[in-house]
Amino acid sequence: MDRDVDLEAKTRETGREIHAAMSGAPVMFDSTRWIGGIMDWAMKNEDFKLRLFRFIDVLPSLKTNELVVRVLHEYFSGETEIPRIVSGGIEMLSKTGFIPHLAGPLIRKSVGSIARQFIAGKDADDTLKALDVLRRDGTDFSIDLLGEVVVSEKEARTYAGRYHSLLDVLSAGFSPGARPDVSIKVSSFYSQLDPIDWAGSIEKTKEGLRPLLRKARDLGISITFDMEHYYYKGLIIEIFKGILEEEEFREFPSAGIALQAYLNDTTNDVLDLIGWARARGRSIAIRLVKGAYWDYEVVVNRQKGWPVPVFLNKEETDASFERLTRLLFENTDVVRPAIASHNLRSISHAITCAEALNAPKGSFEFQMLYGMAEPLRKAVRESGFNMRVYTPVGELIPGMAYLVRRLLENTSNESFLRKSFGEKSSFEELIRAPQARRVSSGSGVVDEHFRNEPLFDFSMARNREAMDQAIRTVKEHTDRKYPLYIGGREVTTEKYIVSRNPARPGEIIGRVSSASKKEADAAIEEALNVREVWRKTTPEKRAGYLVRAAEELRRKRTKLAALEVLEVGKTRRDADADVCEAIDYLEYYGREMLRLGVPATLGNYPGEENEYRYEPKGIGVVISPWNFPLAIATGMTSAAIVTGNCVIFKPSGLSPLIGRELCEIYRSTGLPAGVLQFLPGPGSEVGEYLVSHPSIDFIAFTGSREVGLRIVERAGMFVPGQRNVKKVIAEMGGKNAIIVDETADLDEAVKSIVESAFGYQGQKCSACSRVIVAGDTFKELCDRLMEAAKSIRIGPPEEPGTFLGPVIDEAAMKKIRTDIEIGKKEGTIILERNAPGEGHFVGPVIVIDVKPGSRMATEEIFGPVLSIMRANDLDEAISLANDSLYALTGGLFSRSPANIQKVKEEFRVGNLYINRKITGALVGRQPFGGFGMSGTGTKAGGTDYLLQFMNPVSISENTIRRGFAPLTKD
Ligand code: FDA
Repeated sequence: MDRDVDLEAKTRETGREIHAAMSGAPVMFDSTRWIGGIMDWAMKNEDFKLRLFRFIDVLPSLKTNELVVRVLHEYFSGETEIPRIVSGGIEMLSKTGFIPHLAGPLIRKSVGSIARQFIAGKDADDTLKALDVLRRDGTDFSIDLLGEVVVSEKEARTYAGRYHSLLDVLSAGFSPGARPDVSIKVSSFYSQLDPIDWAGSIEKTKEGLRPLLRKARDLGISITFDMEHYYYKGLIIEIFKGILEEEEFREFPSAGIALQAYLNDTTNDVLDLIGWARARGRSIAIRLVKGAYWDYEVVVNRQKGWPVPVFLNKEETDASFERLTRLLFENTDVVRPAIASHNLRSISHAITCAEALNAPKGSFEFQMLYGMAEPLRKAVRESGFNMRVYTPVGELIPGMAYLVRRLLENTSNESFLRKSFGEKSSFEELIRAPQARRVSSGSGVVDEHFRNEPLFDFSMARNREAMDQAIRTVKEHTDRKYPLYIGGREVTTEKYIVSRNPARPGEIIGRVSSASKKEADAAIEEALNVREVWRKTTPEKRAGYLVRAAEELRRKRTKLAALEVLEVGKTRRDADADVCEAIDYLEYYGREMLRLGVPATLGNYPGEENEYRYEPKGIGVVISPWNFPLAIATGMTSAAIVTGNCVIFKPSGLSPLIGRELCEIYRSTGLPAGVLQFLPGPGSEVGEYLVSHPSIDFIAFTGSREVGLRIVERAGMFVPGQRNVKKVIAEMGGKNAIIVDETADLDEAVKSIVESAFGYQGQKCSACSRVIVAGDTFKELCDRLMEAAKSIRIGPPEEPGTFLGPVIDEAAMKKIRTDIEIGKKEGTIILERNAPGEGHFVGPVIVIDVKPGSRMATEEIFGPVLSIMRANDLDEAISLANDSLYALTGGLFSRSPANIQKVKEEFRVGNLYINRKITGALVGRQPFGGFGMSGTGTKAGGTDYLLQFMNPVSISENTIRRGFAPLTKD
C-alpha cells in the first residue's frame, strides 16, 4: 500500500515536471487557427462533426471540382449555426462565387492541410524532410505506409512492393545512430485473410511477409506488427510468433508487435508472448497502445450480437494500460517496452514504473503519432527518454481511414488530448489516477424482446473446431436411408431421392423415401383429422413449440451446418448463417403470434362490442427451396404452424436430408401428429397433386418464377370439393442490381459486390447479378472487381478457406455455362475463371458492356455471373436498375446525401441496401421479399408475414338489452 502511495506521488511529480516543460498546443487545438476553430466547433456540435468527417472522407475520391462543390453543398446546406472561423472560410469560398474551378481547389487545399497534420508525406522520399526535423532532437520514427484495404492479391503484392521500396529508401537515406522502424498491417499482405481459415491464412500471410522480413533483417531495420480489429487479433499474434520461429528469423532481433490495452483479454496475450519469448531465449518489442478502433469494436460487435471485447469505460482502459505497462517493465529480460500514448498521466506512470523497477532509460521507449501531441513529445524527449514517432506516409484516398481515426481520436469526449489542449483541464484533473468503474461489456444488446441469433465468431478456436468435428461426424454417417413422416408414423416407400454432395457427386449423403399421390392422400387425411384440435390450441401453446424447436436447433447447430456444407455446397459461414436464420424465424414468429393472438377491440361505442381476431386458414403445403434449405423451410413451416394451420412440408429434392432434419426437430418438440408432415417427392407429381387438392387452403412457396407462376395458376382453378380460394404466398427470383456512383467508397463497394455476386456461387435470390456504374469510376471498379474475383478461393466448401463452392447440380452447371456463352455474345468477358474438374463447379465470370434489354441484363442467372453496365448519370442508372420484371433486392454505393435520397425514392425493389452488401437480410431487421415477378409482396421475417396464413374475423355484438348497456371505457 505504502509503495502504491509512493508510486502515485512520484507519478504526480514526474507529471508536473513534464507538464511544466510543455508549451503551446497542437494545431488541432489552436483555436486562433482555422483548423483549430473547425475542430473546436466539431467538438461542440455532434451533427456538424458527423457531416464534416463524412465530407472529409469522401473528398479525395471526388474527381471534378463541380462534384466537390456539389457534395459540399449537400453536406452543409442545412447547417444554420456555423462558427465565425468556418463562416469566414465559407465567405472566402463565396468570394469564388462557388465557381467550381475556383472553389474546388480551395476546398481540397483546406482538407489537405488537415491531413498534413497527421500524414507526413505522399511517399518515402517526400517524408524524409519531415523525418529530418524529428531526427534533429534524436527522435526516432516508425513508418507506416497508408493503404489499409486490400481487396485482391494484386493489391497485396503492390502493397508489399511499396514496403520493399520504402526499405530501400530508408537504408539509403539515414544517418548513423538512427534506429529506423517500419510498422506493417498484416491484413494487407493477404487479401483473403480470414480467421475461419486459420492455417491457410497464416501460411499465405507468412509467404507475403518473409521477403520483407528478410530484407529488413539484412538492412538492420526493425519491423513492428500493428494490431488491427479484434477479429484479427489471434491470427496476427500467431503469424508474429510463427514467422519468428522460423530458422532464418530466430535471430531477427528487432521485431515487435502492438497490443491494445482497451481489450479485456490483453493481459493473457502479454503473458503468452512473454512466456513464448522466454522459452525461445529471445527478446521482442511490445508496443503498448490503448487501441484505435474503439468505436468500431463497440458498434460492430453489438450489431453482430457478439460480446463487446473492449472496456466500455475509458478509465478502465487507462487502468489496464497502467497494469500492462507494469507487466512489461517487470519482464524487460525478454521485452523491450514501447509505451505508445499521448496521455501525460499514462506516460508519467510509465516513467515511474520504469524507475521503480530499475529499467535503464535506454531499455524502453515512448512512442507517439505524427502530429498528435508535439508539445508533449518535445517535453518527454527533452527529459532524456527515447522517443519514436509513428509516421504515416501515403496519398489521401488510401490514408482516409487513418485520418478519420485520428480526427475521431482528437475530438472524442474521452480523449486526453481534448481534455488537455481543448478543454484545458487542470493539472490535477489530468494527472488523476484512473478510477476503474466497471461497465459491463456483455453483448451490449438492449433489446429484451426478439434478438437475432449471433452467427459464429470464427476467430474463436472452439467454433472452428466444433465445425471441423461436425463435418467429420456427418461424413461418417452418410448414405443412410430415411423415411417420410405422415401422421406421426415413419413411412418408407420403394423409391428414394438420392442426395449427393455437389462438390463430389459420387459421394451420396443420404437417401430419403420419395412420396407419391398415395402418401399425399394419407397426409391430407391425417391433417384433416387434427385440424380442429390444432386450430383450438392457444397461440401461447403453439408459440411454445416454436421456442422448443429453436432450442433444439441451437443444440444441433453445427451438425445442421455441416450437413448443409455437404448436401448443398454452402461454405461453413453461409451454412451457419442459414441455421441461425432458421432459429430467428422460430423465435420471431413465436413472439409475433403472441402479439397477433390477442383479439383487438375496435372503436369504443356504447351498446356495441367490436372484436377483430385471426383464424387459421386450415391446411397448407409448404414447398421450400434448396438454397436456404433450413432457414426458408423453417420460416414457412413455422409461420404456418404457429398460426394454427396443419402443414404438409415438401422440401426440395436437392436438400431432402436437411428437410428431414427439420421434421425431426419439430417431432422432438412433441408437436401433435398430423400438424407437420414430411413429404418429399417429385414436384411434377406430389407437388402438383397437393397444390390442386381441394382440401388444401394455401400454398407457401419459395423457388423459381416458372414454378411459382404455375402454382398461382393451379391454385386459381376450382376443383370440386374445394371450400376456400387458395392463398398463394410465393417468393421468386430476382435480377438484382447494385448502383455505384462517382462518390462511392470503392474499397467497400468491391468487397460487398464480390460477396453479393459470388457468395454461395450467386445462388441466393438476393444475389447481385448486375452492377451499374454511374460516373467515371467504371474502369477502376471493373479492374478492382476482376482482381478481387480472381483472388477468391474456389474449392470444396468443407475446406475452411473456400469462398466459392460448387453449384447445386449438373443441370444448374450446364444452364449457367450456356448463359455464359450468351454473355460472350452480348458483352465482353473480362473474367472467366477455371474451376475444379470434379464436381459441379463454375468459376466466377464478369461480363462488361452488357447492353440494356439484353438477356444478360434482364434474365435471372442462378450462378456466379456478374454483368457490369455503364450509365451516364444516376438517373440513367436508376432507370437501368428498374428495367427488370423483378423487384427483389437492390443496392447503392454512394457518399452523396442527395443521391442516397433519390435512390431511396426511385429504385423500386423490395429490399434496398445502401453502402452494404445486398445479401444477408436478417429476420426482424430487414424483412425480406420483393414484388413484380419476384413474388407476391410478402415479407419474411416482418411484422405482417403471419397475416397471410390467417383469415381475419370481425365480431360485433350488440350489448344493449332493453335499453341498457354496459358502460364504455373512456
Ligand atoms: P487517451 O488517454 O485519450 O486514450 C484514448 C483511448 O482510450 C482511445 O483511443 C481508446 O483506445 C480508449 N477509449 C476511448 N473511449 C473509451 C471508452 N469509452 N471506454 C474505454 N476505452 C476508451 N492503435 C491500434 O489499435 N493498433 C496499433 O497498432 C496502433 N499503433 C500505434 C502506434 C503508436 C506509436 C501510437 C502512438 C499509437 C498507435 N495506435 C494503435 C493508436 C492508439 O491506439 C491511440 O493513439 C491511443 O489509443 C490513444 O491513446 P492515448 O493514451 O494517447 O490517449
